[in-house]
Amino acid sequence: MIESHFQEWLALLIRWGHMIAGIAWIGASFYFNWLENQLERRTGEDIAGDLWAVHGGGFYYLQKYAVAPPDMPRHLHWFKWEAYATWISGLALLIVVYYWDARSFMLNPSVADISEALAITIGLASLALSWTWYDLLCRSPLARSPLAFSAAMLAWFGLLAFVLGGLLSGRAAYIHVGAAIGTIMVANVFRVIIPAQKELVSALEQNRAPDPGPGQNALQRSRHNNYLTLPVLFIMISSHYPMTYGHPQAWLVLVVISVAGVLVRHYFNIRHQAGRSWAWLLAGLLLLAVMAWWSRPQAVAGADSVGPRVSTASAWRIVNARCVACHAREPSNAGFSSAPQGIELDSVDMLRVHAERVYTAVVITRTMPLGNLTNMTEQERTQLANWFEGFQAGHTREPGADD
Ligand code: HEC
Repeated sequence: MIESHFQEWLALLIRWGHMIAGIAWIGASFYFNWLENQLERRTGEDIAGDLWAVHGGGFYYLQKYAVAPPDMPRHLHWFKWEAYATWISGLALLIVVYYWDARSFMLNPSVADISEALAITIGLASLALSWTWYDLLCRSPLARSPLAFSAAMLAWFGLLAFVLGGLLSGRAAYIHVGAAIGTIMVANVFRVIIPAQKELVSALEQNRAPDPGPGQNALQRSRHNNYLTLPVLFIMISSHYPMTYGHPQAWLVLVVISVAGVLVRHYFNIRHQAGRSWAWLLAGLLLLAVMAWWSRPQAVAGADSVGPRVSTASAWRIVNARCVACHAREPSNAGFSSAPQGIELDSVDMLRVHAERVYTAVVITRTMPLGNLTNMTEQERTQLANWFEGFQAGHTREPGADD
């Protein structure tokens, strides 16, 4: 109880820090990308381009050098700790939120009967394997064709989401795909982009021409990072939306929304150069609309008007047995110090208040009970489905019902 209270505080503080570092990192990356696209280009000079901007009550004048300044500036700002801090805090968050109580947050006994240790190992291995696969692809001839490269990466993430979805809880599967993408992005900074910048700086200090190889690799990797930002941000917020990770084809939902993110990002990258760039934006938004429609909840077998009527009182007896350990003002489950997401289900009236969300969580996305810790049966899910059908139609007070 007290322990879980402080665990929540720890998670809150780390999440807060993770968000701040992430904003600083992605924000700087968006800003430099914007600079690059907006530069007023010059040719045949030491300066590649410049631009004027006004912000916060002052004027700024920025120049980009074609190669490097003649002398090393005294203060050169690097942008790397934003990325490292995002990854370190993200890993800490994985541990505090998912691994600490892996039974509740990593496992889903209805998809796979594995141990907590194995689930955590699978999660961490998926990060390492993703980086290895990506890094190999970047060094292969495939990297020269953006289309083939994107297809190979998409296939990998689709496969990863599918395999993890068959081993872990839907939410854990999603967050590990997101963490794998984030790991690739940070490893790009750590292993390729920063070393290339160091080579540039040391070439300047030693008065020699820089080796162009690392610089070209760094450009490729930073382009990839740029396209990965929208998918990774979607996955980070997806844990608030069970209709995504709780969908029967959750992996497909993830793939399609990620592709939409890449298309939208592409629009922002090329909108100043190409005509009809809005077609990319339109394609991305269209994909999202199609996904929203396609993923709509389907009627659940067994829950129809001919099914046995279930009164609200009997429905609540199920909820009381399977949900109230966590969803009460003072949960008896030691892992919680207050009702998760403020959803208290400890009376028939509260069940009425939350009827639709209960139905969605138990019957549609099946994300509840969490990790099915309370061993809810299929029969009970069907009973709750039947109850909700009747509840919605307004006839839960059938004669003889114990309501
Ligand atoms: C072991 C603890 C536990 C049990 C048992 C449990 N829940 Fe939850 N529930 C949680 C947690 C934790 C969250 C928050 C998840 C999140 O932040 O995404 C949650 C979130 C929810 C939500 C809101 C988010 C969503 O998925 O829609 C609903 C509704 C819900 N639970 C309903 C239920 C019902 C109904 C039952 C019983 C059938 C149940 N829960 C059993 C822990 C539990």
